[in-house]
Amino acid sequence: MASTQTIDTTQSMPPWKDFAHTGPGALAGRYLRLFWQPVCRSADLVAGRAVPLKILSEDFTLYRGEENPHPSPLPEGEGTAPLSTQHSALNTAAAHALAFRCAHRGTQLSTGWVEGDDLRCFYHGWKYDGSGQCIEQPAEPEPFCQRIRIRSYPIQEYLGLIFVYFGDGEPPPLPRYPEFENDDEIRENTVYVSWPCNFFNRIENAPDSVHVTFAHFQIGQKIPLMDARETDYGVETRSSYPNGEVEVDHFHMPNLSQFQIGVRGPDETQGRDRLAWRVPVDDGHHMSFIVSQIHVSGAAAERYRERQRNRPQPDETVVPALGEAVLAGEKHILDLLEHPNVVQVEDYVTLVAQGVIPDRQADHLGRSDVGVIEVRRLWEREMRALAEGRPLKEWVRPDHLEGRG
Ligand code: FES
Ligand SMILES: [Fe+2]
Repeated sequence: MASTQTIDTTQSMPPWKDFAHTGPGALAGRYLRLFWQPVCRSADLVAGRAVPLKILSEDFTLYRGEENPHPSPLPEGEGTAPLSTQHSALNTAAAHALAFRCAHRGTQLSTGWVEGDDLRCFYHGWKYDGSGQCIEQPAEPEPFCQRIRIRSYPIQEYLGLIFVYFGDGEPPPLPRYPEFENDDEIRENTVYVSWPCNFFNRIENAPDSVHVTFAHFQIGQKIPLMDARETDYGVETRSSYPNGEVEVDHFHMPNLSQFQIGVRGPDETQGRDRLAWRVPVDDGHHMSFIVSQIHVSGAAAERYRERQRNRPQPDETVVPALGEAVLAGEKHILDLLEHPNVVQVEDYVTLVAQGVIPDRQADHLGRSDVGVIEVRRLWEREMRALAEGRPLKEWVRPDHLEGRG
């Protein structure tokens, strides 16, 4: 990893130019905390289990209540369906996000026991409900639960992902993406495990279609002419190719990219629309939470699902391992062209190699970087407004966005 280290120059710049540091005290951290962030795939949070969570350089506890903690005393046929069908769907129990530590003596709450919709500490059994209120102190002759409350965070599940609001006060409404809501179509959720570079490396990759020509050379894409403009939701980037095709990508402030892969068609093997959130784990790592929607249903959807059933489960550690091998000179991209994840490995190589926290002041941006320039301009403008206590732009998304013009 030594080859990818860079000097952190963000200390010497005005805080609104520092997009990289997103801990609770940093300006970019304050800004990101004004928006809901995805933290986990819904399917990965098992009912009755708690897990530790690290996001934005802070630790939290995520848990899901038990699926069916209190079976109905009524026998079958007396006003209730059989239990197996009542709760046949996965993850109908509520998810909760709490502080990382127990208020008693600070152990890690994710090691505890989920009981019904509550969480009991592993160390001395204090119990908390989903709001963070302590409701039991089993060893205390005179419990003082009412005085003990740990922080809890607003949480919602949508499009197969769990979103948490880490800011103070009332959260804004969770943004909706209606083109991705049709449950009859194929929706897939992908999570890229933590990559060892700052989230903004990844943010700047999306409005940069030129990299596809070079970093994904095997696709055979010609060099596009780039254009970018501010919109109500963020930045629209247009990439115009020599054959007349125009690709339109959408960057939603502050950390979501929307784009299309392939071209939409009647066939399940063709295009898909994608939402990709880039979320800091800490300042040196980020994760990607991706929703892909293939707009086919019925027989075409069934064909697709059948093919997926016969495929091996993707191993999310493969991309970082191959990427590191390329960076270390042990492999070359040319050795990997047949690999199903070669595109992600190529992105990993370019982004991690920029440095954990790149010195953006040292960049030499040109006309083809207009998308990157526009994203940086909006981030800087909004962060400066936040720092100076001025109103921020309220980003609004239209009901429908097309990926191509
Ligand atoms: S540390 Fe949690 S109950 Fe003691
Ligand atoms: Fe890429």
